[in-house]
Amino acid sequence: MIKILVTGCSSGFGEDIAKRLLEDKNNFVIITMRNAESRDHAFKALNHDNLKVLSLDITKKQERDNVAQYVRDELNGELDILINNAGLGFYGAFELTSEQELRDHLEVNFFATAIMIQKFLPFIRKSSAKHKKIINISSMLGQVGMPLSATYSASKHALEGLVEGLHYELAPLGIDVTTICPGRHRTNFMSNISWASLEDKDNVYKVQEENLKNLMSKFTNGKEIPLSNVSKKIITIMKSKKSPSRVYVGSDAISFYLLRKLLPFNLFMGTIKNLYKRIILKRMSYENI
Ligand SMILES: NC(=O)c1ccc[n+]([C@@H]2O[C@H](COP(=O)([O-])OP(=O)(O)OC[C@H]3O[C@@H](n4cnc5c(N)ncnc54)[C@H](OP(=O)(O)O)[C@@H]3O)[C@@H](O)[C@H]2O)c1
Repeated sequence: MIKILVTGCSSGFGEDIAKRLLEDKNNFVIITMRNAESRDHAFKALNHDNLKVLSLDITKKQERDNVAQYVRDELNGELDILINNAGLGFYGAFELTSEQELRDHLEVNFFATAIMIQKFLPFIRKSSAKHKKIINISSMLGQVGMPLSATYSASKHALEGLVEGLHYELAPLGIDVTTICPGRHRTNFMSNISWASLEDKDNVYKVQEENLKNLMSKFTNGKEIPLSNVSKKIITIMKSKKSPSRVYVGSDAISFYLLRKLLPFNLFMGTIKNLYKRIILKRMSYENI
């Protein structure tokens, strides 16, 4: 039996991954989400032997401890695979981001995710499974900075820096670390995005933010890309002897990766500036940014 822990399973990628993992009778899945007991979720009524739903807000120490206690008591202190999926979006001008917003955002997407790895690593080390893995959901912005999403990019860059180092550190212990970098997919991500809340007193970011919001609403209504693209990649990685360190999912993520890899850095930045100018700044003079 492969013992797997997934975070953030109330919706989106996490829910889809958990459902697909349950299709395989060889998997035992600890499905975690915030306030699991009190909310309506896809796993509530499932009478599945290979599933345990636990409440886990990854930023709460007591809840992380409870999940660890479950692994210790019920799974003989062994975990084979940790899938760090829980995360949030944060957009808006950096100048309008309060210190608390900056800290809160990095708390979820970086610190709590990093602590999850630290907390469950001893259980993964103890596992006798053929494949021991830590799989993290980052983003196509995990290696690329974008305007009005600098805080989100920073949180995912921090995560990617951490896990790149861990990749080497854990390889001698037989533990693979993989980062999944999805492009845009239709989940609750867009509707759950928080925006920088400070007042734009000089009105310098208003047009940029409005145009970005318009663009994002078009994304929400646009073509639906199956979430299963991410889940299937994860399942393939779980079964493979050697995992890749980073995987891009979606044509936008792959295009960004290729542009960043193939173009000289200044040319890459020039391309992004031009795109930003055409798409977001169209009602503003370029000198204003
Ligand atoms: N959708 C995309 O286009 C996209 C692209 C690139 C990367 N990603 C990444 O994919 C991951 C999953 O997002 P998604 O697209 O599936 O969006 P989603 O549908 O909003 O799912 C996010 C999940 O994370 C959970 N979560 C948020 N804060 C949490 C916390 N403190 N503790 C535990 N769980 C928490 C949410 O729980 P609640 O229901 O309780 O809020 C929800 O279950 C994120 O890391 C995101 O950055 C998404």
